[in-house]
Amino acid sequence: MSETPLVHLENIVVRLGDKMVLDEINLKVFTGDRLVILGQSGSGKSTMLRLILGILRPISGVVRYRRLQVQKLSRSKLNLFRSRVGMVYQDSALISSMTVRENLALPVEELSRKPRKEINALIKENLEMVGMSGTEEKLPSELSGGMRKRVSLARAMMMQPELILFDEPTAGLDPVISSVIDELMINLSGKTNTTSIIVTHEMDSAFKVATRMAMLYQGKIIEETTPDRFRASANPVVRQFVTGTTEGPITKTPLNADSSK
Ligand SMILES: Nc1ncnc2c1ncn2[C@@H]1O[C@H](COP(=O)(O)OP(=O)(O)OP(=O)(O)O)[C@@H](O)[C@H]1O
Ligand SMILES: [Mg+2]
Repeated sequence: MSETPLVHLENIVVRLGDKMVLDEINLKVFTGDRLVILGQSGSGKSTMLRLILGILRPISGVVRYRRLQVQKLSRSKLNLFRSRVGMVYQDSALISSMTVRENLALPVEELSRKPRKEINALIKENLEMVGMSGTEEKLPSELSGGMRKRVSLARAMMMQPELILFDEPTAGLDPVISSVIDELMINLSGKTNTTSIIVTHEMDSAFKVATRMAMLYQGKIIEETTPDRFRASANPVVRQFVTGTTEGPITKTPLNADSSK
C-alpha cells in the first residue's frame, strides 16, 4: 500500500488571460518533503501555490490535501484548511496599517482561542527565529523589503502549520540572512516534520534545502526528482537552468511565445 500524499495535483489545467499557465500538471508532495519548484519568471510557480491554497481554481483537474478536494471545500472548511497551511507571499503581503505584532496575531486570533499571553509568546519566539526580535510595534512601512519578508515568514509559522508554501523566501535578502532562512526551512522539517513547498530562483539555496526538485517549463513539469538527479539531468532546459548559461532552449523561446498579440 502506498502512502497518501499530503498534496496531490492531478491533471491540473490553469489558463490565465490567453495564456495556458499550467497544462495537465501532476505532482505529489509527501509529508516531510521540501519540494523546490524552479522555473523561469512567468512560468506559473506562484500560480501553483495559489492553486494549492484554494485561492485559484483550475479549469480542470483536482487539488487534493490528504483526501480532501480543496476546490470542493465550503467557505468555513476552506478557512480551516488554510489555517493549517502557512504562506509566505512573494511580496510579503503584510497589512500596512497594522504593526508587526498585529499582523502576526491576526491569524491566531481569528482561528484559535489562544490567550493573549500565549499569542505574545509565540510572536516573540517566531520573530526571534527570523532574526527580527523587538520589531513588534513597527509598521511594515518602517521596515526594509528583506525585513518585511522575514516578518511574513514569522507570520506563516504562527499557526504551527503542517505545510508551508514559500514564494521566493530569500529573494532580496543578504547572503547571511538567506542562509539563516535556508537553515530555518531545513530545521522546520527536521524538528516538526513540517512539509514545505519552496519557489526559488537561487540555485545554491535550492540545492541546499531541497529533498526533491521540480521544474516548470511551458506549462509542464519537465523534471521532478532528487537534487542529485536534478543536477545531473540530461534535459537541456534543466541543464541550462542549473548552470545559468545564456545559450540553450530557454533563451531561444520568447517569454510570451504563447500569448501572441
Ligand atoms: N490574474 C492574472 N491574469 C492574467 N494573467 C495572469 C494573472 N496572474 C498571472 N498571470 C500570468 O500567468 C503566468 C504565470 O504567472 P506566475 O505569477 O505564476 O509566474 P511565476 O512563475 O511565479 O513568475 P515569477 O518568477 O516572475 O514570480 C504569467 O505569464 C502571468 O502573466
Ligand atoms: Mg511568482
